[in-house]
Amino acid sequence: MAILEILTYPDKFLRKTTRPVETVDDDIRKIIEDMAETMYDAPGTGLAATQVGIDKSIIIYDVAPLEERPQLQVLINPKIVEMEGNTVSENEGCLSVPDFRADVKRAAFVRAEGIDRNGNPMTIETDDFLAVVLQHEIDHLNGILFIDRISSLKRELYKRRVRKQIKSL
Ligand code: NI
Repeated sequence: MAILEILTYPDKFLRKTTRPVETVDDDIRKIIEDMAETMYDAPGTGLAATQVGIDKSIIIYDVAPLEERPQLQVLINPKIVEMEGNTVSENEGCLSVPDFRADVKRAAFVRAEGIDRNGNPMTIETDDFLAVVLQHEIDHLNGILFIDRISSLKRELYKRRVRKQIKSL
């Protein structure tokens, strides 16, 4: 197992659209293990392959309370097939957007489909916190960050801050 480097905004790789996984083989299982180690080390609630420089459609997450971890969930080739209602996820954050949080408009309910780490089809229906996690992580696989879904004013404030930090490096 290995802890992978988590790419951060404005890394261009984060804008990539991932390719579907064709077979869940040992290479894919190794990627999942490394992603899990990286997520728990961070620690984070979810991680998409794009965030560690891998352009494959894989997300992992663990929404269990800290003291009940690990309860790792893996969804390969995930797709949201149904969304309903509106909610605002308060103080959403992302390992690839360090030191920044914002409220994000999200669908309240999602149905997602994909395959699990054994290659079996999987369907998840949720109107819980997990609904937000799935939308956030699946966005990553399409090159979308949560800062793309907030007001342009807030986004500009964040971008300006990052530009300043880069300049002062
Ligand atoms: Ni994220």
